[in-house]
Amino acid sequence: MTEKQTWSQRFESALHPAIARFNASISFDIELIEYDITGSQAHAKMLAHTGIISHEEGEALFNGLEQVRQEYRQGQFQPGVDAEDVHFAVEKRLTEIVGDVGKKLHTARSRNDQVGTDTRLYLRDQIQQIRQQLRDWQTVLVDIAEKNVETLIPGYTHLQRAQPVSLAHHLLAYFQMAQRDWERLEDVYSRVNISPLGCGALAGTTFPIDRHYTANLLHFDNVYANSLDGVSDRDFAIEFLCAASIIMVHLSRLSEEIILWASEEFRFITLKDSCATGSSIMPQKKNPDVPELVRGKTGRVFGHLQAMLVIMKGLPLAYNKDLQEDKEGIFDSVNTVKACLEAMTILLQEGLEFRHQRLATAVTEDFANATDVADYLAARGVPFREAYNIVGKVVKTSIAAGKLLKDLHLEEWQEIHPAFAADIYEAITPRQVVAARNSYGGTGFLQVRQALINARTQLSVK
Ligand code: ARG
Repeated sequence: MTEKQTWSQRFESALHPAIARFNASISFDIELIEYDITGSQAHAKMLAHTGIISHEEGEALFNGLEQVRQEYRQGQFQPGVDAEDVHFAVEKRLTEIVGDVGKKLHTARSRNDQVGTDTRLYLRDQIQQIRQQLRDWQTVLVDIAEKNVETLIPGYTHLQRAQPVSLAHHLLAYFQMAQRDWERLEDVYSRVNISPLGCGALAGTTFPIDRHYTANLLHFDNVYANSLDGVSDRDFAIEFLCAASIIMVHLSRLSEEIILWASEEFRFITLKDSCATGSSIMPQKKNPDVPELVRGKTGRVFGHLQAMLVIMKGLPLAYNKDLQEDKEGIFDSVNTVKACLEAMTILLQEGLEFRHQRLATAVTEDFANATDVADYLAARGVPFREAYNIVGKVVKTSIAAGKLLKDLHLEEWQEIHPAFAADIYEAITPRQVVAARNSYGGTGFLQVRQALINARTQLSVK
């Protein structure tokens, strides 16, 4: 390294080039540059406001920082590895622009409270963007659900056909997961949005700073009460990564279903050309790459959560350079969640079609109405457990005879139990099986219609 370091004269020789590269975070923390500038502008204003520097100096710093921002946006300022990190890079360029007064910017702060401030400002923005994307995602789910209240689809437990459900009900399950994701991020936001600025290196500062002043300028809700905690806390990042991981869990579950539905074995959907890819060797293939990638990318977000937990475990107070390792995982998780939400929203909106004919057949070709036969008897006074056993036998003999329940003659029903009457046939049609589950939160059409209204109301909350 040719140039001398930004740190003190205590150092006699320059860093070994490989160590400089090892130490540097500029290749990734450049992502924070605009937040770094905004944070520094607030700090400069506070220094002037409290009389630590003059108003002219404060203004020179503020405007110089704005110039750094513009130069960066126009591609004229591209700091390299010699800058070590984004904080040094901005300060150095500022000093080139405004001269010696630039050297006053770092009065009464440390890179430790600075980087904590930047990361929170970044995450705050990203959380709001992801929450908006969740809203778009939820909107698409409700849009499709509204058109498919009466579309029936086999419902599964253990991946075995269990009872048919309304397709809308199925999609609304994912709507509710996304709703909790949206609420969870709001909660995480409240702990991200606390200012560590002014905590200094670890113990506060000798200058008469005003931490609430900078917090207000930066729209933080509060300030960290303890300086050691303020500079070394990464709970907020762990919480975010946890919320991000849960979003990915939800997206990966629907992804898996879409992959199954698109298979020849299910044939519940067709993938449209705009969202599917071909094989380089098998000309007949159309692959569900989008949901497969979402399912696959879920792993990396979990990995970042795990990494952050391990980085923090056993870390003594206060700042340790280990904390520089927080950023790539946060950035990658943010980018991954955003990309997955966007891709899944497009996929659902325009990339697949439900095969209504096939779904209608699917719900009639099995014994998914067996519970309803048991319920039929139970409603006519037969204790449920007894009814359950009777129907078990019916299913067994039907399978042996190669028949479905709807194919049994009335005499056959009545041989099984005298309580059966002609209305058994209506009771076991897939439509009736679904309609009858009218308990709160169930798949009955009345419930689903109400759930759709409730979903629209939930969506109207900004
Ligand atoms: N690049 C550093 C980080 O990301 C900035 C803080 C450096 N602080 C220090 N005491 N070396 O954590």
